[in-house]
Order: sequence, then structure tokens, then C-alpha cells
Amino acid sequence: MSVTADPLAKANAALSELIAATPSPKRRGTLLIVDDEEGPRMSLRVIFKDNFDLLMAEDGPTAIELAQKHDIDVAILDIRMAGMSGIEVLERLRFVRPEIEAIMITAFETTDTIRQALRLRACDYINKPFDIATIRAAVNAAMQRRMLESEIHTSAEKVHELLSELQSQKVEEQIAKTRGDIYASIIHDINGPLTVVSGFIQLLNKKLNRASRLELEDLEFIKERMVIIERQVGNCIEISRRYLGFLRQQAGDSAPTGVHQLMSDLEQLVRVHPSIQENEFRVTPPAGDIAVRINGTDVIQILLNLTVNAFQCSTQPHRVEVGAEILHAPLNLAEFKDGPADRILNVEGLTNAAPLVKFWVRDNGPGIPAEVLPKIFQPYFTTKGPRQGTGLGLNIVQRLIKEGNGALHCQTRPGEGTTFTTYLPGTDITKP
Ligand SMILES: Nc1ncnc2c1ncn2[C@@H]1O[C@H](COP(=O)(O)OP(=O)(O)OP(=O)(O)O)[C@@H](O)[C@H]1O
Ligand SMILES: [Mg+2]
Repeated sequence: MSVTADPLAKANAALSELIAATPSPKRRGTLLIVDDEEGPRMSLRVIFKDNFDLLMAEDGPTAIELAQKHDIDVAILDIRMAGMSGIEVLERLRFVRPEIEAIMITAFETTDTIRQALRLRACDYINKPFDIATIRAAVNAAMQRRMLESEIHTSAEKVHELLSELQSQKVEEQIAKTRGDIYASIIHDINGPLTVVSGFIQLLNKKLNRASRLELEDLEFIKERMVIIERQVGNCIEISRRYLGFLRQQAGDSAPTGVHQLMSDLEQLVRVHPSIQENEFRVTPPAGDIAVRINGTDVIQILLNLTVNAFQCSTQPHRVEVGAEILHAPLNLAEFKDGPADRILNVEGLTNAAPLVKFWVRDNGPGIPAEVLPKIFQPYFTTKGPRQGTGLGLNIVQRLIKEGNGALHCQTRPGEGTTFTTYLPGTDITKP
């Protein structure tokens, strides 16, 4: 199915298609006549041949066979027949076509037979010999009921089909939207490492242009920078792989990475990031080491987004601290509540079992105003002006935390600063 921009137009087209494909309810009804006596069978044929499509059976087995092959609306059944009685025929017909309306014809029946017929939902009961007006009235009434029922059934099916059509349309749109968000995320996340790469390449170019010949220390300088460039290019590749894997619905590579390693990678990345400017930056690794259960690139992506935001929260020089702690007991989730200065994410999806790794990114910037706080995780929400921020950073953080079964707490104080604390499932460093 193709994805159209206007879901209403698509739904309308689907409805018209369905209506066109639905047979008109004004069809001729089909009447089955079952009687082992030729006389009454022939009279019934004469009475109804002009109004309905007729099927004739002189015994039970023939009636059942006809019911298996044809859509029957109403059946007239003689109760007293040689071999299979009309009651038995009705019982079997109910298995083949439960919706049939049945009119029983009888000579002298006991109340017991009548009760049996009623139990099998016979709708009318006519004595033999019948007069034409009575049988006509009975069959017409039964036929109208059947037609109405089948119309209702067809309409219900139509509505059901339309609903599932709309549902799949919604799913398609959701996928298309997710795809758009993912492509935007790739561009957003790759932008960080590419900025670093481009800065270093410029630096190397300057160095090479200035030197008429390369000294040993120049070579060392170049080699060191090349290692960083290589690592950043590797990050770009891993970021795009992660998102493209997500598009293909594959789980990412979740090899556990040690917290110390992650924090030293982050520090290296941040020290050369243009957003650091004149700001103070401090990294405090945890006492002891532990691995985080989610992909290491994802953790760096989370912390880098939070750290860059912390640098960008003010143009005045300020302080940004990143730290980690190993928690040996589950969190008391009752303490986590949204408020004018607090925003909580994914507490319901957190794997709340020790060990947990707590990372925080703290700044002493201006804080987040109470009216802005509820919006910060929305995609494309930014207060930084169109050419400075895409507003995707925190939305990416939110997605990575949810995927990693972690939680986040943003706590802010106007004039004092903001702390983003993330909680991620940890695992012993030796265990895979
Ligand atoms: N540490 C912080 N202090 C103050 N405000 C913050 C802080 N972190 C985030 N915000 C607010 O949240 C908004 C959304 O952040 P997000 O990272 O999603 O987008 P962005 O930083 O504006 O754009 P991008 O990440 O694309 O550069 C920011 O524009 C800012 O208003
Ligand atoms: Mg940001």
C-alpha cells in the first residue's frame, strides 16, 4: 500500500471502493422447500417461483447437500417425512447455515415436536393443509427478516474492513513518521563527531601548510590527531548503523562497556568540542567499575547531548560536571514525581534491579523555566533559534533511555542550574 499525505482522502477512497465492491442488498432471496410428498412440494413451487430462487428437496440428505452448495435464506420443512424428520433436517441445517429462517409444516404434531422445533429456532409453524395467504405471509416475513439481517451483517463487515484499513493506514504513517525522525536523528548525532573531525582536519592542514618539512614532533602531533579523527569517523559509522538497524527493526549490538572507559571517551570528545569554549568542565568517574547493559555508543550519545546542552545553556562562562555512581539497591520509584522544577522519564519502563548506574550532568547555568520544562523532550522543540538548534537532542536522549530500559530525572532551579540524572541497568564487568 502506498502512503498518501492525506489520510482522510485515503479513507474516503477506501470507503468508495468497499461500497462499489459490495453486492446490492436488493437481491432475490433463496427459498428451500423440503417435503417428501410431491403434491404440497409442487404447490409451494407454484406459489413462490415468481418471487424467489427456489431449491427443491424430497428428503433430508438432499436438503443438506443443497444447503452446503447454496446460500439459503428461508427453508420450508415438512416435519413428517420418511427417513429423516423435518426436525432432524433442521438440526443439521443449523450446522451448515445457522442463519437460515425455518418454517415448519405439519399435520398433527405433539407439543413435544413443537417444543423441539422452537428450540431449533424455527420461526413459524403452519398446519397442513395450508392456505396460500398464510404461507405467503409467513415466508415473506421470514425473507424480510433474513434480508435485513444480511444487510446489517454486510454493513458491519464494511465498517470492520474500513476500520482495519484506517488502522493499517495509521501504522504506515507512524512508520513513515518514525523514518523521518530517524533520518533527522542520524544527521543530528553525526553532526557532533563531524564537527570534531572537521576541526582537526583544519588544524592539521594549517600545520602542514606552515611546515616546509616535517619534524619528528610534527609527525607525533599528526599521528595523535589522526587517532582522534579515526575514532570520530568510527562513531559516525556506528551511529548510522544503530539508526539504520533500528529502521530494520534489529536490536543493536549490546556488548557491555565499562563506565570508566565510557567516561574517558566522553571526556576526550568533549574537550575538543566547540561548545566547551571558556567553560569549566569536570568529569568524576565512579569508585570501582561496572558495565552498562546498553550499547556504549548509546551511553556516549546520551551524555554528549546532555553535556553539549549544559555548555549551551548560557553564553556566560559557567561550570559543567559529569559524574557517575554505582547503585547497589533498586530505586525508590515513589520519590520520582513530575513537578514545576522536575521532569521524570520512563520510570515505568526502568529495569529497577541492582546494580544500576547513575550518571549525572550538572550545570550552574540559568535553569529551565517552568513553562519550558514540560516541552524539552518534544521532537524539534528548541529555544535556541532556527540556525542554532534542531530541538532533537533531548528527544534522542529520551528514545535511547527508553530502548535501554533506563530512566531520567531532570531537576532545575532558576538561577542555580540544571541536573540531568540518568539511571541505566548495570552488569558485572566480567559478565557478557
Ligand atoms: N542544561 C540546560 N539548561 C537550560 N535549558 C536546557 C538545558 N538542556 C536543555 N535545555 C532546553 O531544552 C531545549 C531542548 O533541548 P534539545 O537538546 O532537545 O534541543 P536543542 O539543544 O535546542 O537543539 P540541538 O540539540 O538540536 O542542538 C533547549 O533548546 C533548551 O531550551
Ligand atoms: Mg541539544
